Amino acid sequence: MSIIFHEGSKTFHLFNEEISYIICVLSNGHIGNLYFGKKIHDREDFSYLIESKQRPMTACVYEGNRKYSLEHLKLEYPVYGTSDYRNPAVEILQENGSRISEFKYISHEITDGKPELAGLPATYVEEPEEAQTLCLRLKDEVTGIVLELLYSIFSGKGILARSARFINEGIAPVHLLNAMSLSLDLPDSDYVWMQFSGVWARERHIIERKLEQGIQAVGSIRGNSSHEHNPFIVLRRPSTTETSGEVMGFSLIYSGNHRMQAEVDTHNTTRVTTGINPQNFDWKLDCGESFQTPEAVVVFSNQGLNGMSQTFHKLYQKRLVRGYWRDRPRPVLNNNWEATYFDFTEDRLVEIAAKAKECGVELFVLDDGWFGKRSNDYTGLGDWVANKERLPFGIKGLADRIEEMGMKFGLWFEPEMVNKDSDLYRAHPDWILHAPQRASCHGRNQYVLDFSRKEVVDCIYDMMYKILSESKISYIKWDMNRSITECYSVALPADRQGEVFHRYILGVYNLYDRLTTAFPQILFESCASGGGRFDPGMLYYAPQGWISDDTDAAERVRIQYGTSMCYPISSMGSHVSVVPNHQLNRITSLHTRANVAYFGTFGYELDLNKLTDEEIAEVKAQIVFMKEYRELIQFGNFYRLKSPFDGNETVWMTVSEDKRKALVFWYRERNVVNAEFTRVRLQGLDPDLIYKNEYNGTENYGDELMNLGLLTTDVTAGEPTNEDLPCTDYESRIYVLTAE
Ligand code: GLA
Repeated sequence: MSIIFHEGSKTFHLFNEEISYIICVLSNGHIGNLYFGKKIHDREDFSYLIESKQRPMTACVYEGNRKYSLEHLKLEYPVYGTSDYRNPAVEILQENGSRISEFKYISHEITDGKPELAGLPATYVEEPEEAQTLCLRLKDEVTGIVLELLYSIFSGKGILARSARFINEGIAPVHLLNAMSLSLDLPDSDYVWMQFSGVWARERHIIERKLEQGIQAVGSIRGNSSHEHNPFIVLRRPSTTETSGEVMGFSLIYSGNHRMQAEVDTHNTTRVTTGINPQNFDWKLDCGESFQTPEAVVVFSNQGLNGMSQTFHKLYQKRLVRGYWRDRPRPVLNNNWEATYFDFTEDRLVEIAAKAKECGVELFVLDDGWFGKRSNDYTGLGDWVANKERLPFGIKGLADRIEEMGMKFGLWFEPEMVNKDSDLYRAHPDWILHAPQRASCHGRNQYVLDFSRKEVVDCIYDMMYKILSESKISYIKWDMNRSITECYSVALPADRQGEVFHRYILGVYNLYDRLTTAFPQILFESCASGGGRFDPGMLYYAPQGWISDDTDAAERVRIQYGTSMCYPISSMGSHVSVVPNHQLNRITSLHTRANVAYFGTFGYELDLNKLTDEEIAEVKAQIVFMKEYRELIQFGNFYRLKSPFDGNETVWMTVSEDKRKALVFWYRERNVVNAEFTRVRLQGLDPDLIYKNEYNGTENYGDELMNLGLLTTDVTAGEPTNEDLPCTDYESRIYVLTAE
């Protein structure tokens, strides 16, 4: 891996074994993009790639050079207001009302390693040789604003991390109205766009379409990264599959308002921009102040979607997630939410925990309802002290009882929220985000605390710190159950109201940072009504996230499949819940519910006391299985083989680093009669090793399994009268493959 600067042609070539990223200083001082893709040879000068022609009529050009129009150049961080009419990466409102800027190269620096981004989550390195960073310094002479563009290339894999920093070295304040993290111009538009979209209980479904002229974008203006559109998009070539072909994934390490966009102009070039959503964004930059954008990560792979996903998985698992839990298999847990909702006493919780312990569960989690006067969702949020009617000896009393049983104890918080019926709100009614003289919308009867204010974050920190330091707490589920409305802070002046959304999320990051520093061994799981804030920003603080409130196995197959495009299996909170399922009323078998939930952190969201003896025996076996294989499942190399978005069957698998163990998971939605013979070609095995299949006792070389496939045909391919026919929809099975 290296970053080379060619002085003569003012060209930068960032490359490793997989990719080349080539940019240069253009003759007008702007930065141009020359190439991004599979690694190519270096050369002194790539300027033949800068194509500029005198075009008829409409193109606006620089004085003295009729060929030089920014409209037709591939630019790195395009500005607003000169001769480029595509969407810019930056727009700056100046004191005189002008929004025009021109950033020209002044200097650069190449360093080993990768710097931290102050106050923001970002990928990191442990050793300087893991990455190299180029910092380009540009300046807009009129305003005196300096722009630093950061590019970090990681060794080995096709990963580039980018961000931008603005420093006001001028003599007047300016307003940043748009400050993207990444802008990338591609020379053609022959791509399929993929987005990961949904709603509450149906998050991150894969939606794709051919890229067309015009703008295609997804984003959020809800104050969180949202259930609706994940801050992740993919551009793949039309012929790219899961296992072959070129693909680029763009991921934004940010948990607030984002925009992920691709603009195809009428000459069929493509501009990708990702960053903070400019809608409602207006950051006042006083003289001497700086503004750092979030980090965007782009991954290039020529080994299909699986190749791209594996690169993201390893990067986010090892160099975004931090701390004690990063490399550790996650505890099997039992959460009481769907078992009791708000209706519990200490003894009832202990009863649930005792049965869980008997089954092999390691962590008992007390969800919503333990604090203040929280007996329903109208009251209590903000009062982070135990409800003595339910928990007479406080959280400490319950935590001690759970610990005495030999289990760990975990607790739910929703730190950013308040109910009007709470002591916190009564004491500080102006601490919620609200606009003067206007009504405030609520979501689930709750209001959003103004986390842009330090005193608010401090107060919540103090309450949480007290609980966490008094009791033995090993896990926190951090929830966020509504989107933001009336985003206005009474603590900020009029000309800083456009900063509130971003300051809010910085406040959230600050609280996470302080708590994870004070309690480094606590395992944090993020949550936002399920998957409303499942993004890389959260993963920096919380190694796992509750991916959806929908615990139905069939729905979860889709959600987990879509989520796996970017996020590692170790990050996906997934549990077995009761049937009929509480979201859908659907009935699926206990083994299918577990077969789906295994692909994540695993746990139970029910009262095991209510299961039959036969079911308890099955649960015990499931937990034994998960403990044996969780390292492989959560940290192995994951491959998607058949998509639930394409047909009736879903198959995915995971392979150990040494390729001697593999698990193949097969799910079928609808039962079929007189079905076709089916097989699935496996991935990632050693072609020369013989794998024993524990499911049916067969033995096959890796090359057989990868080329002619694993036979998955079952009795459904026979006559319907066959007595062995497993007459269920939502059937599933696991193939354990082992090579000596
Ligand atoms: C959200 C979460 C659930 C549960 C409830 C509690 O909906 O996603 O898992 O914690 O809040 O109110």
